[in-house]
Parts: sequence; C-alpha cells; structure tokens
Amino acid sequence: MRRLFPTIVYNPITLTGVAISAVSFGLILFLFLLELLGDESHPYMGIIAFIILPAFLIIGLVIIAYGIIRERVREWKGISRYGNLPVINLNDPKQRTMLTTFFVGTILLLMFSAFGSYKAYEYTESDEFCGTICHEVMEPEYSAYLTSPHSKVGCVQCHIGSGASWFVKAKISGAYQVYSVLFNKYSRPIPTPVHALRPAEGTCEQCHSPQHFFPEIKYEADYYLSDENNTKSSISMLLKIGGGKSELGRAEGIHWHMNVANRIYYIHTDTLRNVIPWVKMIDNNGKEIIFRSSEGSYDEKKFNEENLRLMDCIDCHNRPSHIFQPAEKSVNLSISLDRIDITLPYIKSIAVDALETKYSSKEIALDSIEIRVKEFYKFNYPDIFDSKQNLINKSIIEIKKLYERNYFPNMNLSWRSFPNHISHLYDSGCFRCHDGKHVSQEGKIISKDCKLCHTIISQDTPDGKKLVAYEGLDFIHPVELEESVIKQKCVDCHARE
Ligand code: HEC
Ligand code: HEC
Ligand code: HEC
Ligand code: HEC
Ligand code: HEC
Ligand code: HEC
Repeated sequence: MRRLFPTIVYNPITLTGVAISAVSFGLILFLFLLELLGDESHPYMGIIAFIILPAFLIIGLVIIAYGIIRERVREWKGISRYGNLPVINLNDPKQRTMLTTFFVGTILLLMFSAFGSYKAYEYTESDEFCGTICHEVMEPEYSAYLTSPHSKVGCVQCHIGSGASWFVKAKISGAYQVYSVLFNKYSRPIPTPVHALRPAEGTCEQCHSPQHFFPEIKYEADYYLSDENNTKSSISMLLKIGGGKSELGRAEGIHWHMNVANRIYYIHTDTLRNVIPWVKMIDNNGKEIIFRSSEGSYDEKKFNEENLRLMDCIDCHNRPSHIFQPAEKSVNLSISLDRIDITLPYIKSIAVDALETKYSSKEIALDSIEIRVKEFYKFNYPDIFDSKQNLINKSIIEIKKLYERNYFPNMNLSWRSFPNHISHLYDSGCFRCHDGKHVSQEGKIISKDCKLCHTIISQDTPDGKKLVAYEGLDFIHPVELEESVIKQKCVDCHARE
C-alpha cells in the first residue's frame, strides 16, 4: 500500500496520538452540530464539548509530536552526519505531503481553538455552568438565587465583575473548585464569607450607586406566637436608608453615613465576621475615631491582617442573592399569606419545630414533617383532625416547601450556616457594632438607639391594641420580658441553637 506520509509517522505512539485527536475532534464537531441544531442546551454537553474533549485533543497532539521526535532520535543515533537538526527535503513528495498537512492542520486547529476557547469562556461564565454543573454543591445557592431579587443578574456579575485580573483570579480559583468537586474535597456547606470576593465597587456599584437617594422605605411584618391561638401581632416601620449627594442637600441615613461621607474599617476575630472588637471611622476631612468594644479583652497590636476590612455593601448586604430564612420568619410569612392555616391550634410552633429538627436526608425530612404534623392533630385534636383534613394537608404542603427552599441536609446547610448581617433579630447584624458598648476615647458610642435606623409608625400588639404614631413608637416586645428589651441583644433569645 502506498503510504502518504514518511515512515517516521507510522510508529505506534504517534498513531495512538492520531487516533485520540481524531476521535476527540470528531466528537467536538458532532456535539457542536448538536448544540447548533438543538434548541435546548444541556449543561453537561458544554463541559464535555468545550473543556474535556479539547483537553484530549491537545493530549493527542502532544503524543503525536512525542512519537515523531522519539523516532527521529532513534534514527539519528550513530548517523548524525549533517548535525542534529532534521533535514527537510521538499523534493520528496511524502515529506511535502506531511508538511502541508501539518501546516494546514495547525492553522485549522488554531482557528478552531480560538473559536473553541471563546465558547469555553462564554460557557464557564454562564449561570447554568455556575449553578448546575456541580449540582449538589451549588444547589442551595442556586435555588436561593432563583427566587431572589437578583435572579436575573448573572452569578459572574457579583462574583467576578468585569476586567481581566479578576477574570484570571476567578478562573484560577475556579479550577481549584472543579478539582475539589471531582475529588470530593469540598466542605459542606461551602464556607462563607467568600474571601476572594471582589470589593463592591466593581460589582454591586456597577448597578447600584450609593449616591443615589433612597427615601425611607416601609418595612412590614406579621408575627405569630407559638401559643395555642398562634396569637398575631404586627409592625410597620420606616427604614432610614438615605444616601444622596451632598450638593443636593439630601445626605442622611444608613447609606450616607456608611458609604458616602465616611470610611469605616473594622477588625473581626472570628471567620464569620460576627465578633468585632475594633472599629475605625475616617470622615471626609481625614479625621479618625477609633471605637473599642468594652466587652472582653482584645490585643489590637496582634491581629491577623486578613481580618481587617474596609466596610462596603457586603458587610450589611451579605445575602443579597442567597437568602435562607430562619424558620420563625418563613413560617410567619406563610401564615400571613394564608398558606399555613392560622386556625389550626399550635400550627406556628409545630411548623417551626418540624423545620428545625435535624434530618439525615431531604426525603426523610419531608416524610417526617408530614407524619409529625398529622400525628399531632390526630392525638391532641381528633375533631380538628377529622373536620379540617384539607387545611392540615394544605399547611403540610407549604411547610415542606419551606423546608426544600431553606434546608439542604446533603450539604449540611440551613439558615444557621450563613449569618445575615442586614438586621439584628436572628443574627447580630447591625448590633455587632451598634450594641452601645463600642466606645471611643472621647466617650462617643456607636449608638443602639432604637430610633437611629428605623421609625416604628404602627404596631398591633398581641393583646389587641392598635398603636399609630408618625413621630415613632417605642417597640413593644410581643411577650413580656423580665428585663427591658432595649438593654438586651435580640440574638441572645432569638438565635435558636
Ligand atoms: C447579587 C449578587 C450575587 C449574585 C447574582 C450571585 N451571588 Fe453568590 N454570593 C454573593 C454574596 C454577596 C455572597 C456572600 C459573600 C460573603 O459573605 O463573603 C455570595 C456567596 C456565594 C457562595 C458561598 C456560600 C454562601 O452561600 O455564602 C456561593 C457558593 C455562591 N455565592 C454561588 C453563586 C452562584 C452559583 C450564583 C449564580 C447562580 C451566584 N452565587 C450569584 C452575591 C451574589
Ligand atoms: C447587574 C446589576 C446588579 C448587580 C451587579 C447587583 N444588583 Fe442589586 N439589584 C439589581 C436589580 C435590577 C434589582 C431590583 C430587582 C427587583 O426589584 O426585582 C436589585 C435589587 C437589590 C436590592 C433590593 C432587594 C429587595 O429586597 O428589593 C438590594 C439590597 C441589592 N440589589 C443589593 C445588591 C448588592 C449588595 C449587590 C452586590 C453584591 C448587588 N445588588 C449587585 C441589579 C444588580
Ligand atoms: C450599614 C449597612 C449598609 C451598607 C454598608 C449598605 N447598605 Fe444598602 N441597605 C441597608 C439597609 C438596612 C437597607 C434596608 C433594606 C433592607 O433591609 O434590605 C438597605 C437597602 C438597600 C437597597 C434597597 C432599597 C430598596 O428600595 O429596597 C439597595 C439597592 C442597597 N441597599 C444597595 C446598597 C449598596 C449598593 C451598597 C454598597 C455601596 C449598600 N447598600 C451598603 C444597609 C446597608
Ligand atoms: C463595623 C461596625 C458597624 C456595623 C456592622 C454597622 N455599623 Fe452603623 N455605624 C458604625 C459607626 C462607627 C458609625 C458612626 C458612629 C458615630 O458617628 O457616632 C455608624 C453609624 C450609623 C448610623 C448613623 C448615621 C448618622 O446619620 O449618624 C446609621 C443609621 C447606621 N450606622 C446604620 C447601620 C445599620 C442599619 C447597620 C446594619 C445593617 C449598621 N449600621 C452596621 C459602625 C457600624
Ligand atoms: C443600627 C441600626 C439599628 C438599630 C440601632 C436598631 N435596629 Fe431594629 N432593625 C434594623 C434593620 C436594618 C432592620 C430590618 C432589616 C430587614 O430588612 O430585615 C431592623 C428590624 C427590626 C425589627 C423587625 C424585625 C423583623 O425581622 O421583623 C424590630 C422589631 C426592630 N428592628 C426593633 C429594634 C429595637 C427594639 C431596637 C433598639 C433596641 C432596634 N431595632 C435598633 C436596624 C436597627
Ligand atoms: C430574653 C429573651 C428575649 C430577648 C432578649 C428578645 N426576645 Fe423577642 N421574643 C422572646 C420570646 C420568648 C418570644 C415569644 C416566642 C414565641 O412565642 O414563639 C419573642 C418573640 C418576639 C417576636 C415575635 C415572634 C416571632 O414571630 O418571631 C419578635 C418580633 C421579637 N421577639 C423581637 C425581638 C427583638 C427585636 C429583640 C431585640 C431588640 C428581642 N425580641 C429580644 C424572647 C426574647
């Protein structure tokens, strides 16, 4: 048989390389066509077509080159008359064909890989890649994201932002993440905070400007006690967000103080950034004030550099997109929307307990929740169990939904895994600094005044009173406490362990 290429090519190693490259190339083309023709793309197809197969293609090419070089070296041993470099004889038709094939092949491959790497880039930036490839790993963040106000904002817009250096950083840490998923080395849940997260000016501030003025916004909530009647109370208050440009004269409130007028640095001593013994404020004129916590002793000369932070959006809005609600809060909302029926005795209490129990898997959890609620009414309220079957079932369906949305036993994850810094009820949040115990040398205190951040304009108390006052009400705690609520930290009782 007439051979197209010089004999040097026909060695087992090179032929293996040719086979590998040819098959990978063929498969890539095939998947490509499928993607062009099919209207629904599949996440795994992308990872195969644009990442795994090209890797094989390159390995094949390297093997081809290695085989040829190895043959050459063998040939040369002892017959190196013209020096060490190979002799190319363009008059030899076989060598000519080999060279032409090589050049044409290389050019085609380069063109293809430019296109291919663009596709690979596009693909690794997609929400589909970020959210679903490592399904189990990302499931909690992805499902929280899908129901968040940012469900139409791409993962990369908060996690990477634009610009080459952050892109490279993200791909390097991304490569490690792919490795840790393949070899099952990731932690459950994925730890927070994200250390490589880009400062907010490159992400959040591309869409939201702190200079933009927000008026006070209304915050409303209904609460239900865990007694037999699920006694209702409610609150309506104005959150003083503020912001604004000083020349417009509307500079005030939470955003103004934190992001526009001052820079605030802080040191935290724990990984979750919950314990903050030291805070420094620098105002527009460069004046510094340092606030130190009077609780506990802390040696500020020896601190870990990594634990010093310039406060930005993420230090309050750390869960803009992956919100996992505390059981109390999500059940309150479902009762208020009439998805869990308020006429069922103790339903608030049972729902919260059923959600907060630790289960080993989602399936077991969903079954147990159903059994638990049914058994409770069957034994304690048999009449209601008979007469309100469908209300009980409706409520069970909702409790299960809350579970599926907020708890992920396979990732060992619930709302407790991630503090939410925006409030102070279930997590320390604002009270990490605003606890009335951070004092400067001149005696200035980071205020805990209940009217600093919000104005309560109306409150319905559990005993049926309706209070309204536009200048602001003092908060009436739904149940009587031994010591005034103002003097205490809400998390001491509300962060259920
Ligand atoms: C609106 C901005 C935003 C979007 C969009 C967003 N994230 Fe996040 N993500 C964050 C912030 C902020 C954190 C927490 C950072 C911190 O506390 O350090 C976070 C944390 C995470 C974490 C770490 C674990 C945790 O829950 O704290 C993972 C994993 C994650 N995001 C994955 C994703 C994926 C996947 C997508 C797209 C499907 C996505 N994110 C979209 C802002 C965003
Ligand atoms: C690509 C643009 C974009 C980026 C980046 C972005 N957001 Fe948003 N954000 C939006 C849009 C649009 C909305 C309004 C969504 C709506 O009302 O449905 C929004 C809403 C919000 C809200 C109001 C939520 C609510 O409950 O109504 C907050 C708070 C917020 N973003 C904070 C952040 C923070 C913090 C970051 C950075 C981690 C961020 N955003 C990054 C576009 C963005
Ligand atoms: C000191 C804490 C703090 C910081 C820092 C902060 N915010 Fe806020 N922000 C709040 C609070 C509190 C609200 C009230 C709404 C809420 O509870 O979500 C809010 C509300 C918002 C809203 C929603 C307004 C609405 O109409 O619903 C947006 C958007 C927002 N912040 C963006 C940002 C951005 C962007 C940054 C960074 C430049 C930032 N915030 C920094 C505390 C903060
Ligand atoms: C890292 C510490 C820290 C955290 C966390 C923090 N703050 Fe502050 N905050 C400060 C400091 C420091 C001041 C300035 C105190 C002063 O000037 O007396 C301040 C002042 C304020 C002011 C007063 C603004 C004014 O006009 O005087 C508001 C409102 C405020 N913070 C809201 C919040 C809210 C809401 C949160 C939680 C979402 C929060 N802060 C979390 C450190 C913090
Ligand atoms: C540093 C700012 C700040 C101070 C001081 C503060 N709050 Fe708040 N508070 C907030 C923010 C911000 C929210 C709402 C966050 C959200 O969107 O869930 C909130 C929410 C609340 C809620 C509603 C909780 C919920 O989840 O429904 C109550 C009740 C409340 N605060 C009472 C108080 C009382 C009582 C005090 C005084 C001891 C106080 N606050 C002091 C910032 C503050
Ligand atoms: C000494 C313990 C204690 C402290 C401190 C405390 N609470 Fe409570 N709180 C309770 C108890 C007990 C209930 C009743 C719970 C129930 O019946 O389910 C409750 C109920 C509530 C409820 C309604 C229940 C619900 O549906 O979640 C709200 C709102 C509330 N507290 C706000 C606060 C705020 C805001 C603070 C901090 C300023 C605070 N509490 C501090 C013990 C406390």
